[in-house]
Amino acid sequence: MNVLIIGSGGREHAIAWKLKQSSILEELFIAPGNAGTKSLGTNLDIGVSDFDSIKKVVLEYKIELVIVGPEVPLVEGIHDYFLDDQELKGVQIIGPQKFAAQLEGSKEFAKEFMQRHNIPTAAYKSFTKDNLEDGFRFLESLKPPYVLKADGLAAGKGVVILENLKEAKDELADMLTNEKFGTASKTVVIEEFLDGIEMSCFILTDGESYINLPNAKDYKRIGEGDKGLNTGGMGAISPVPFADQEYLKKIEDRIIKPTVNGLKKDNIAYKGFIFFGLIRVNNEPMVIEYNCRMGDPETEVVIPRIKSDLLELLVATAKNDLKNAVVEIDNRSATTVMLVSGGYPEAYEKGKEIHGIENVKDSILFHAGTKFNESNKVITNGGRVIAVTSYGDDFKDALKQSYTSIQNIDFEKMNYRKDIGFDL
Ligand code: AMP
Ligand code: GLY
Repeated sequence: MNVLIIGSGGREHAIAWKLKQSSILEELFIAPGNAGTKSLGTNLDIGVSDFDSIKKVVLEYKIELVIVGPEVPLVEGIHDYFLDDQELKGVQIIGPQKFAAQLEGSKEFAKEFMQRHNIPTAAYKSFTKDNLEDGFRFLESLKPPYVLKADGLAAGKGVVILENLKEAKDELADMLTNEKFGTASKTVVIEEFLDGIEMSCFILTDGESYINLPNAKDYKRIGEGDKGLNTGGMGAISPVPFADQEYLKKIEDRIIKPTVNGLKKDNIAYKGFIFFGLIRVNNEPMVIEYNCRMGDPETEVVIPRIKSDLLELLVATAKNDLKNAVVEIDNRSATTVMLVSGGYPEAYEKGKEIHGIENVKDSILFHAGTKFNESNKVITNGGRVIAVTSYGDDFKDALKQSYTSIQNIDFEKMNYRKDIGFDL
């Protein structure tokens, strides 16, 4: 079958890499893709929110299955666009419809969903500019630190955690009255601070059944020791060493099953991935957030550990046939270390030639922000540039390989964290 992957990051390269190994794949297209995906299929120069152009290529290239990588087109309703179009009706989409994508697109929606289905999460209240004063009173009733979340999508920047009450009030006012994050902060969720170690779980669901994918832990801060600004993610490890069978069973019984059952009870159709951002408090798992897609860079360690044919699993998802699916997982650990442009996540330069990629033999390079220049050289084209993924008997072993491979690669102002896994 012909398949289209929407997106341009390391996540999409990892999905493309895996689908390329499928016995049922005919042609692979990636929109817009990057220099890495170009060696696996045809890159199409189309933005992820340009649904009309996506429709054109789906019809032109007889694409039967579309995998939506990032959250933005899902929250904007790409799945609904396909369902509403006569010519696209037969095309299968992996990724939820707009309503269900609110699990990620609206913090308030997600909190209400969790409350309704008794899924453990931090206590919260939400506010708009009409009840700003109530928001101040609520902050006064909490102990620091204060957790403020813009309701809508804010490119990973919408969560602000502050120690000081006055700062928290000012931030709330800034978010609500000045719309600091645009319409995303028209509503703000204020929640109880949870102290614990984080990890993520992933499932693929057809709305009835689901399969568990490997779990992972990512490292979001730019600086070593988890200091400094938040990024999209600087590295990841799978499996998470502290997540033993007992803890995983709690996650499955109290969070994963109630989520899938909750969607069914609420009559919310869902075909695609669910990403559970979790925190462990007194050895109990609680949900920090849902995402309606796979994580990046988590995908770069999750996908390499799936031994089964991913395309067959996605077809089963599309056909509501996941209950008969079995997924085989590689017992080895996988780790990834993200090479980023100097300055990221603040201002950075693009267009730097990347040297030495061809010398990496014992790791897998998943491209993120890369492209070819006119002389066919791979150059940087984003903040996060390349994820260096390796296998090992344990995560330390795998990390050692990633760090060894990185010694081959170089571009001007290249930066990466040298302490992935430091807290494990
Ligand atoms: P989110 O975008 O909801 O994943 O939040 C971003 C990050 O903020 C999370 O990965 C956590 O590190 C932190 N965070 C979010 N909510 C809480 C909370 N209630 N307590 C402590 N930390 C939180
Ligand atoms: N790495 C975190 C995310 O994809 O949201």
